[in-house]
Amino acid sequence: MFRSALSTAQRRCFSISAQQNSKVTVLGAAGGIGQPLSLLLKLNPRVTELALYDIRGGPGVAADISHVNTKSKVTGYNSGPEGLKAALEGAEIVLIPAGVPRKPGMTRDDLFNTNASIVRDLAKAAADHAPNANILVIANPVNSTVPITAEVFKSKGVYNPKRLFGVTTLDVVRASRFISELKGTNPANEEVTVIGGHSGVTIVPLLSQSNHPDISGEARNILVNRIQFGGDEVVKAKDGAGSATLSMAYAGSRMADALLRAAAGEKGVIEPTFVQSPLYADKKCDFFSSKVELGPEGVKTIHPIGKLNDYEKGLLAPALEDLAKNIAKASLTPNSIL
Ligand code: NAI
Repeated sequence: MFRSALSTAQRRCFSISAQQNSKVTVLGAAGGIGQPLSLLLKLNPRVTELALYDIRGGPGVAADISHVNTKSKVTGYNSGPEGLKAALEGAEIVLIPAGVPRKPGMTRDDLFNTNASIVRDLAKAAADHAPNANILVIANPVNSTVPITAEVFKSKGVYNPKRLFGVTTLDVVRASRFISELKGTNPANEEVTVIGGHSGVTIVPLLSQSNHPDISGEARNILVNRIQFGGDEVVKAKDGAGSATLSMAYAGSRMADALLRAAAGEKGVIEPTFVQSPLYADKKCDFFSSKVELGPEGVKTIHPIGKLNDYEKGLLAPALEDLAKNIAKASLTPNSIL
């Protein structure tokens, strides 16, 4: 009886995994984020095919990761339009960590000039060869590279706002970890919604909606500042060798996994992420990060931000101002961008 029940479950399991055919592509796969991100994706049983592309080193990283004894097939692609096309064709998810990272003293916005064109060119290729994929933009400044990607997809007539995401998961991961350090709790049980964008004051953690709405005064100032500028801790500690890569890889793989689970029909998959959003469109913020329920179609429901206290309202006002500027930088200059 038990044996037959088990084998039925196993058969069902097998048929689910046989039906799912999830190709995931990483553009910038040989970088500081790209390598550990690709490794974590190799460990994800929902990924059946992993395509690794970089302007240098893609095949090497792929050969290395391909020896890990999980089921997915790993292929590395050489730099150039043919390699990029082959990496993208048939992808369900495309992650873009390609681009230069910060050095000490730099803001994410300082990366605009270099990374805008890298993301623009990769977005063009994605629009041509994977127009229906979920596009997960990691390259900074996310507040601008996401609108740039939207403009590129619009210019090619294939823009679907439900499938474009700025990866802000690292802010949520950090918030959960930092609050657990402060309170001496298990971070696995701490959930902090982070809204806004992904840089400095545009990162707005909603502690009033966490397990610890009591945090106040100087402790709150320090915690909020740490969540907003946590990336700087890493940039400073790496002392010129880059920004967060390992924690970012973890965050990127968590976001990809959320989309894969939602695509497989799992209900209630919710992640804060930076998407085209109606919430603050009247403040010139057409893109905004809030809790988003994911589904097989990508974005299923954009949740409202809920009730904010006065302190959080005070954080949100400058966040919206900065965010509007970051977004305008990308979308008001489409001719120079496209
Ligand atoms: P990295 O310099 O170590 O790696 C970047 C990789 O991109 C390199 O392997 C490079 O060859 C590749 N690349 C450059 N141009 C390319 C192109 N046109 N096509 C394909 N590959 C290309 O940098 P790292 O540390 O991996 O950071 C990557 C980006 O992620 C940076 O812009 C950084 O600011 C951003 N980042 C985003 C975070 C987030 O929370 N969204 C957190 C941390 C970093």
